[in-house]
Amino acid sequence: MNNLIVFEGIDGSGKSTQIRLLESKLLEKKIPYSVYREPGGNYLSEKIRDILLDKNMDICNEAETMLFLAARAQLTNENIYPDLNENKLVVCDRFCDSTLAYQGYGKKIDKEIIKKCNLFVTRNLNPLMTIIIDIDYENSLLRMGKNKDRMENNSKVFFEDVIVGYKELALQSPDRYFVVDGMLSEEEIHDLIWKKINIKRSI
Ligand code: ADP
Ligand code: TYD
Repeated sequence: MNNLIVFEGIDGSGKSTQIRLLESKLLEKKIPYSVYREPGGNYLSEKIRDILLDKNMDICNEAETMLFLAARAQLTNENIYPDLNENKLVVCDRFCDSTLAYQGYGKKIDKEIIKKCNLFVTRNLNPLMTIIIDIDYENSLLRMGKNKDRMENNSKVFFEDVIVGYKELALQSPDRYFVVDGMLSEEEIHDLIWKKINIKRSI
């Protein structure tokens, strides 16, 4: 069974916080799981992450897109598929939709090319469920902290396009997405997500 659960949302929306809360629940319920972040999760993908987030690195939009995709190819092959084959629940902090939202909607790279490349690098893997934590740009800024990485340094307009992107993706396939209001309390968001995951896993 495909037990891949993905968290999406702009920087500072609360993904890591929710993944931590979900991990505690999975431990308590003794459900075998693994957690990865994108880009990252193995030696190669973490090296690519260092390059992508380095403020001193000048990367054109096309190269940036391909680097995110390369990191995803390695994570899917080296980590996600083996874990799914061991019947683990795999939780991923970002996946294919981040490239569509950030490089497609944000940086105007051709979305059809990104969709094709996502299928190629993941060998057609689609998440069981994608949770989008929805928060506006002003609130994300308040949460982001001062020491911004290369991607967080993008403009307000960029992040607003990314937010529009996530909303459009969710509208296009309502069955696959669960959009949750990121301004609720951490516990409220966690409860909503946990309920939704249980419904999805029992279908
Ligand atoms: P992300 O992983 O999406 O970048 P984080 O989980 O790291 O976001 O959260 C960014 C900041 O916002 C952290 O300081 C975190 O404590 C805070 N935060 C997360 N969720 C909430 C929430 N629901 N309400 C208020 N603050 C939150
Ligand atoms: P990270 O610190 O993991 O995200 P967050 O700040 O939300 O916790 O940084 C990853 C950055 O890379 C984030 O700004 C989103 C961006 N990104 C893309 O632009 N495209 C992608 O395909 C992925 C996976 C991430």
